[in-house]
Amino acid sequence: MSSLLIIGCGSIGERHLRCFAATGRAQLSACDANPALLEKICTQYAVPGFSSLDEALASGGFDGAVICTPAHLHLPMARQLLEAGLHLLIEKPLATDQTLVPEVREAIARSGRVVAVAYVYHFMAAVAAARSAILRGELGRLLEASVVSGQHFPTFRPAYREIYYRDRRTGGGAIQDALTHLVNAMEWMLGPVSRVFCDASHRALEGVEVEDFAHVAARHGEIPVSYAMTQFQAPNEHVFLIHGELASLRIEIHQQRWGLMQRGETQWQWRQCPPVERDTLFMAQAAAFLDALEGKTTDLCSFEEAVQTLRFNEAALQSANRGEVIHLSPLP
Ligand SMILES: NC(=O)c1ccc[n+]([C@@H]2O[C@H](COP(=O)([O-])OP(=O)(O)OC[C@H]3O[C@@H](n4cnc5c(N)ncnc54)[C@H](O)[C@@H]3O)[C@@H](O)[C@H]2O)c1
Repeated sequence: MSSLLIIGCGSIGERHLRCFAATGRAQLSACDANPALLEKICTQYAVPGFSSLDEALASGGFDGAVICTPAHLHLPMARQLLEAGLHLLIEKPLATDQTLVPEVREAIARSGRVVAVAYVYHFMAAVAAARSAILRGELGRLLEASVVSGQHFPTFRPAYREIYYRDRRTGGGAIQDALTHLVNAMEWMLGPVSRVFCDASHRALEGVEVEDFAHVAARHGEIPVSYAMTQFQAPNEHVFLIHGELASLRIEIHQQRWGLMQRGETQWQWRQCPPVERDTLFMAQAAAFLDALEGKTTDLCSFEEAVQTLRFNEAALQSANRGEVIHLSPLP
């Protein structure tokens, strides 16, 4: 039984707490700077609570932590937690800039601890199965891909004006909050982004000024990939389309299915995945993190994969600001 500290018990922190508890493999404690929220969480889930990270670390006894605070706090907290010898699951995006990446990378190497990032699309059955088909070579040489995705964000997160979302400096806006999931999933399937041109701005969400749509023309190596996503549209739909020399592949996240169409065919051969709730994905991710602590190989997003997606986030923001194409040098 691992002892885990959930840091930040807002929307996603509470979900991690509930989903780690559901694995039956972790003893949990909560940490949040908001006293009223902390009290509610501690009462509801019958867990010990700490009002600050310093206070929690002083009490000792944790094997790991799940960092669920806004993104600008992720790496400063990771640095402190690695110094204290804890394993880490860090919420996405990894950070809002790369300043602390080298220092945290060194701290990971020094400590030998498990560090993963909670890009939860890795635990969607349709994404994982489609990736396996691509890696088995079922599409042949990959030629082109696109993603069309969006939802009406205020319906799913009515408090969007009051949280990190309202400011890019705390991880807000469509690029760092939502597009980052899609790009990380595509990087997991196709390899890292190498070139970005991004058009993004604010169009519709009331009470904020951050971008609420993004159009991206990217290259993942030689593969051209386009992304179109909004946070104001009516449908909650997310479609990935990947074309290869032998076949095309389509993932419909909202239908929990993926399909192949061989060249020359006219119908999709659909593979329906078992229906899952959102918590089920987070339980699978929690179980994978606990497996990783036992030394097992998992599908968790690695620190370096999340650094790469952070590089994309920064490049997309820079491109949108300046109207320029940004080239990403290959990672060493
Ligand atoms: N994987 C996903 O699908 C998903 C979904 C939502 C949010 N997120 C990510 O999770 C992170 C948190 O998002 P959220 O929606 O839960 O935000 P939130 O505002 O609901 O919760 C953040 C919590 O952190 C607490 N906090 C802030 N500073 C703190 C500190 N110094 N010490 C302790 N607690 C502190 C706040 O009091 C708050 O309760 C963000 O990085 C976000 O991008 C991921």
